Amino acid sequence: MKPRVFVTRPLSEAALELLSSTCEVRSFPKDAAIPVSQLAEECREVEGILVSSARVDEEVLLAAPRLRAISNCGVGYDNIDVEACNRRRIPVTNAAGSLEETTADLAFTLLLAAARRAIEADRYVREGRWDRWQWGLMHGLDVHHKTLGLLGFGGIGRPMARRGLGFSMRVLYHARHRADVSIEREFHAEYADLKTLLRESDFLSLHVPLTPQTRHIINGKALGLMKDTAVLVNTARGPVVDEEALVEALTNRRIAGAGLDVFEQEPRLHPNLTGLANVVLAPHIGSATGETRVRMATLAVRNLLAMLAGERPANIVNPEIYS
Ligand code: 8YV
Repeated sequence: MKPRVFVTRPLSEAALELLSSTCEVRSFPKDAAIPVSQLAEECREVEGILVSSARVDEEVLLAAPRLRAISNCGVGYDNIDVEACNRRRIPVTNAAGSLEETTADLAFTLLLAAARRAIEADRYVREGRWDRWQWGLMHGLDVHHKTLGLLGFGGIGRPMARRGLGFSMRVLYHARHRADVSIEREFHAEYADLKTLLRESDFLSLHVPLTPQTRHIINGKALGLMKDTAVLVNTARGPVVDEEALVEALTNRRIAGAGLDVFEQEPRLHPNLTGLANVVLAPHIGSATGETRVRMATLAVRNLLAMLAGERPANIVNPEIYS
C-alpha cells in the first residue's frame, strides 16, 4: 500500500507528480494557510506531511498517530513544534540549499531600493509630478564602499556578503558561532560583537532564524545604537524586529530607512508603516521566483520520500532523534 501524505497547499505540479508516483496524496486546495484544526483533521491517517507555512503543533501531532515524516518547504521552520516532534521521534526536514541565493537577491533589492528611494521615485514619475531635472531631487544614500552588517552568517547571510563585496562594501557579521577563519577569508567578512555590528553598519541585514533568543533582538535599544543614516533590511522573520520600536525609529529618523519583506503579524501591518516614505515593503516574497519555487518543492518532496523510505534525509533539522 502507498503511504498517505498530506500537502498543505498546492505546490509546483511537477513536484506533486513525483510525490504521487509513490504516495497517496491529498492537498489543501487553496494557496493559503490551512487552519490548524483542519490540518489536524486531514492528518488522522497520514504518514507524512509536506508543509508550506502551515503550523504543525501538538494539536496536529496528537491527531496523527501514524505520522513519521514532516517535510517543510522552506528554510525557516519556526512554524513546526520541533520539540514535540522530537518527543515522538518524528524526523523534520527543511528546504535548505534551494532558496538562499534567491532570498539574498531580494534582500539586496530591498537594500538598494531603500537606499536609492526606487519605489518613491517610480511613484513620483507615474503620478506625473516630474516636471524638470533638479539638483536636489530625491537624494538617497551611497551603497558602494559602505559597511554591510549581517546579523546571521549562514545560508543567506553568506550569499548576501558576496553581493556586498560586488559593491565594494566592507562586510561585518555577527552570529551565535563565529565562522571558521577560512570562511571569513572567503567572504572577506569580519566578525563583530552585536553592539559593534549595530554601531558600525550602514546597512544591517537580518539573516537569523526566529528563536526565543532572536525574538525582538532588534528592539528600541538596538535601534538606538544604529547610525541615524543606517538602513535596516529584514527578509528573515518579522518578530526578530520589535515592529513598534522600528516604526518609532523610522518616524523619528533615528534610522534612515528600512526594507521589509516580513512582519510581526503578517499579513497584517503596523498601522503606521504604510504612511512612512522611508520604508520599502514587500509581501514575504524572498524565495518567490518560478525557478526557486520548483526547486523548493522538488527538494521538499525528495526529503519526504527519503523519510518515508526509512532513510536519513540530507536536510534533517532534528538529527537528535536518531541518537
Ligand atoms: C517560504 C521562507 O516561502 O524559507 C523560508 O524560511 O520564509 C520562505 O521562503 C516560507 O517559509 C513559506 O513556506
